[in-house]
Amino acid sequence: MQDSKTSLGLRKLIPEEKAKMLSVGVFLFLSYSTAPVVLGVPPIKIQPEQVHLSYPGVYGSMMVTWTTFDEADSMVEYGLLGGKLFEMMAKGSSTIFVDGGSEKRKLFIHRVTLSALRPGFTYVYHCGSGAGWSDIFYFTALNESSDWSPRFALFGDMGNENPQSLARLQKETQVGMYDVILHIGDFAYDMDEDNARIGDEFMRQVESIAAYVPYMTCPGNHENSYNFSNYRYRFSMPGDTEGLWYSWNVGPAHLISFSTEVYFYTDYGLDLIVKQYEWLKKDLEESNKPENRKSRPWIITMGHRPMYCSNNDHDDCTKFESLVRKGLENLFYLNGVDLELWAHEHTYERLWPVYGFMVYNGSREEPYVNPKAPVHIITGSAGCREKHDGFIPDPRDWSAFRNSDYGYTRMQVFNSTHLYLEQVSDDQNGKVIDSMWLVKEQHGVVAWV
Ligand SMILES: *[C@@H]1O[C@H](CO)[C@@H](O)[C@H](O)[C@H]1NC(C)=O
Ligand SMILES: *[C@@H]1O[C@H](CO)[C@@H](O)[C@H](O)[C@H]1NC(C)=O
Ligand SMILES: *[C@@H]1O[C@H](CO)[C@@H](O)[C@H](O)[C@H]1NC(C)=O
Ligand SMILES: *[C@@H]1O[C@H](CO)[C@@H](O)[C@H](O)[C@H]1NC(C)=O
Ligand SMILES: [Fe+2]
Repeated sequence: MQDSKTSLGLRKLIPEEKAKMLSVGVFLFLSYSTAPVVLGVPPIKIQPEQVHLSYPGVYGSMMVTWTTFDEADSMVEYGLLGGKLFEMMAKGSSTIFVDGGSEKRKLFIHRVTLSALRPGFTYVYHCGSGAGWSDIFYFTALNESSDWSPRFALFGDMGNENPQSLARLQKETQVGMYDVILHIGDFAYDMDEDNARIGDEFMRQVESIAAYVPYMTCPGNHENSYNFSNYRYRFSMPGDTEGLWYSWNVGPAHLISFSTEVYFYTDYGLDLIVKQYEWLKKDLEESNKPENRKSRPWIITMGHRPMYCSNNDHDDCTKFESLVRKGLENLFYLNGVDLELWAHEHTYERLWPVYGFMVYNGSREEPYVNPKAPVHIITGSAGCREKHDGFIPDPRDWSAFRNSDYGYTRMQVFNSTHLYLEQVSDDQNGKVIDSMWLVKEQHGVVAWV
């Protein structure tokens, strides 16, 4: 076997790389050293890293996204679990992302779409190119049936520092407890910091979950630098808005992801508020067409900053004038949105069915059976360097349950009538500290009357 290192202690370079390095004349040999030392040669970084999955919104497909720091081809080799390894291959392409920091670091973001996957079957894959392959990962192609009951883990506000829930999420993901993960904004704290090295490290950390199930996202305030560019480039969500707003279907649910940040970072364009609103309106009209609402009765939204909250950190959701509530509550109510998922507050809060500050229980005994308004859940306590948030002592009457342990939420959309949610406390070793069934015999605006 050939030694993979040369006598200079360098790994063997492919001819193009050698030529590139020689041409810039960067070899310097220090004569006083017994072993020759090479200075000033930047490492070649063609090894794939930060591997993560997302669902492109088209049946039988899955997108694989990863990063290299030098140019390389974009390929995924894959095959059915138990079959011949890597018997299939799909090609994609890479986009150059130049971070906005002083070093203007350059990342190659590779994207490959796998298609014609067999729903419910598990695939083994690696990604990269002949210049270097990633580790081996696996995923199960989403079942396409609207009778299927997808299982979600969802949370917001997870950082590079103190990502307390990640180890538990990793284990649960790898044993197959989830079909999809929803990260409801605020990543890494912050992805752009240290010239986007914090973003790189965070994406390496979440590879432990995101390389196994689709990792679906929406932007949070911590992504705002350089017009949300780290968010827009690093993730690959359905649609053509670079992940700012999009929707997709899974099981009996239509999921809508959007940016609450258009209401706060208006320097990036006031028109984004209007564009997003128009898109939401159209998407809600489409998903409310009788044939669509029949097969996907649940409409679930996710956005980072909540319309309501009872935290003591002076965010506008604690007061009356939440910009997000002003902007979107009527639209969501009038289109019969069933469930609204939020984060941003580093706590968990469950609300009684609410609209315009008024509680609309299904009944006093069973508030979540045929509720007369959307149900809101705030789950932003996955863990980050900002630690926990506190609560105001006397919440308003729409607040049903509050807890400030680190943790995350599990959700399963069972069928057209039943949806289950529970809150996991990581502080209490995975104990379920809250749970609820949302039961709806009717969906859409007709359910409110
Ligand atoms: C998909 O889900 C449906 C409904 O639960 C089930 O009947 C079907 O067998 C599943 N398909 C696969 C391939 O697992
Ligand atoms: C910010 O990004 C959005 C989405 O790509 C774009 O529409 C907008 O024009 C950008 N704003 C600025 C100020 O560059
Ligand atoms: C809603 O239901 C809960 C639980 O039964 C109850 O505590 C609360 O007072 C109810 N709110 C209204 C406005 O009926
Ligand atoms: C929906 O799922 C729930 C929970 O498993 C079950 O009790 C109920 O009977 C199911 N309803 C239908 C219409 O299948
Ligand atoms: Fe936030």
